[in-house]
Amino acid sequence: MAQLTGKIALVTGATSGIGRATAQRFVEEGAYVFVTGRRRAELDATVEALGANARGIPGDVSRLDDLDEIVRQIREDGRGLDVLFANAGGGSFATLEETTLEHFDDTFATNVRGTYFTVQKALPVLNPGASVVLTGSTAATSGTPAFGVYAASKAAIRSFARTWAVELAGRSIRVNVIVPGPTDTEGLRGLAPAAEHADALVKQLGAAIPVGRAARPEEIANAVVFLASDASSFVTGSELFADGGEEQQ
Ligand SMILES: NC(=O)c1ccc[n+]([C@@H]2O[C@H](COP(=O)([O-])OP(=O)(O)OC[C@H]3O[C@@H](n4cnc5c(N)ncnc54)[C@H](OP(=O)(O)O)[C@@H]3O)[C@@H](O)[C@H]2O)c1
Repeated sequence: MAQLTGKIALVTGATSGIGRATAQRFVEEGAYVFVTGRRRAELDATVEALGANARGIPGDVSRLDDLDEIVRQIREDGRGLDVLFANAGGGSFATLEETTLEHFDDTFATNVRGTYFTVQKALPVLNPGASVVLTGSTAATSGTPAFGVYAASKAAIRSFARTWAVELAGRSIRVNVIVPGPTDTEGLRGLAPAAEHADALVKQLGAAIPVGRAARPEEIANAVVFLASDASSFVTGSELFADGGEEQQ
């Protein structure tokens, strides 16, 4: 039996990696999915791969006008949202000494402000009983050199979920965080100093955690399906670590 039959979902950051894999799993589980991202060509390719039960709406989550347009189109569709996967995000390395105002502001504009206003703007279209899933990171609970701004941005995500789970409980809306460990995506590979070092980086990060390898995006997507579905009906305000044991050692 499919786990998301008849549900309407929005996945932000669906043009690659974890978001794209999750949109795919949502469709396989019977959902209709709105997908977003800034890159038009990748968005079109994603929609084409997902098929008839997907629609692309381009947008940058750090721009409130773009979020308004995404929500306007969902409102126009008329079915509301049963699942909101606020996943768009990313980061790059910079030590405390190296961090510029631009690096700090860009990271927070996407990861923190973008997530905050994605959920705020979606409130009017969230159906009763909806599930909101935010993408956190294991970086939020560990000290990784040169990853301080990103780590703090993901700690904010964890905090938002606690507050929103309480604020939205009256509408039977659940809010949880998926916490991926190292996952083989464009985003992770982009942290390598050069493209030829990406394989080594993915291998090295995977080797450092109990399961001994990085996740495939589909493995994170499977955990998001659980949080999105009614199977997690008593789970809210929590975080689900899909981290290969990274933060459990
Ligand atoms: N991979 C990992 O090891 C890992 C571990 C923990 C947490 N995470 C988190 O998982 C999430 C997905 O990352 P990923 O690894 O799948 O990386 P990815 O392949 O780079 O995917 C990131 C997605 O977010 C979108 N995005 C980035 N900035 C955006 C913005 N301002 N507005 C709209 N969309 C934006 C990108 O699309 P466009 O470029 O088309 O806009 C892309 O679809 C992120 O929140 C990341 O922090 C990843």
